[in-house]
Amino acid sequence: MGQLLVALDVESGSRALELATELRGVAGGFKVGSRLFTTEGPDLVRRLVASGAPVFLDLKFHDIPNTVAQAVEAAVSTGVWMVDVHASGGVPMMQAAARAAADAAAREGRRRPIVIGVTVLTSMDDATLESIGVQRTLLEQVVTLARMAQDAGLDGVVASPQETAAIRAACGSDFSIVTPGIRGASAGTAKNDQSRTMGPADAIRAGASYIVVGRPIIAAADPRAAAAAIVEELGRLKAASTATSR
Ligand code: C5P
Repeated sequence: MGQLLVALDVESGSRALELATELRGVAGGFKVGSRLFTTEGPDLVRRLVASGAPVFLDLKFHDIPNTVAQAVEAAVSTGVWMVDVHASGGVPMMQAAARAAADAAAREGRRRPIVIGVTVLTSMDDATLESIGVQRTLLEQVVTLARMAQDAGLDGVVASPQETAAIRAACGSDFSIVTPGIRGASAGTAKNDQSRTMGPADAIRAGASYIVVGRPIIAAADPRAAAAAIVEELGRLKAASTATSR
């Protein structure tokens, strides 16, 4: 499937479904976050899944292992393709999430969703980390949590473009890295509130498995054309790397 995931950060389920239809065949999948989910609930997720789109349910579960396992189970029953939990919830919590995904999928005869961990929120910096008692630098903390996620049986992590290469080096090629904060090149120049950004092809080159793009697509006058430009940029990268590996 395509590497471009579009963040459906919109106000209503009807607008989300409209965008999903408009972006069919261009977007590799769609991300549903807490705002849309809190407004529209699992019904919208089921409708998106029914439209044939891979859905990343980005609710960043963080609770005691039993509760997270039950939340992951509920996510599996909507048919999502990817779901995430906070890696700082610890190894037992992540193990419970991974186990719940596998068990629920087997029970329901569905494909097991990809379960990924959120390491350190991109809104945090070294000072915020220190204020909550973390002595490591931000990058050390990110890589430590990514390794923990991998040891706990998760399939990957969400990471900012600046962290992708270090995680790829620490966790190897089979680990999924989902990278938001995409700006520049075909993703346009408006940074919005993102500060540590990278262009689509650069993010993939740095080791991302998937990129998440929201406003450069959903707020564009022509969302399909905006998404197509990003897919083309990624296509050029693929063509160039195939040519050099020959
Ligand atoms: O509009 P934009 O391209 O900035 O959207 C990026 C999406 O990725 C948003 O849904 C945002 O919440 C999400 N995200 C992020 N940084 C993270 C994790 C998720 O920007 N570290």
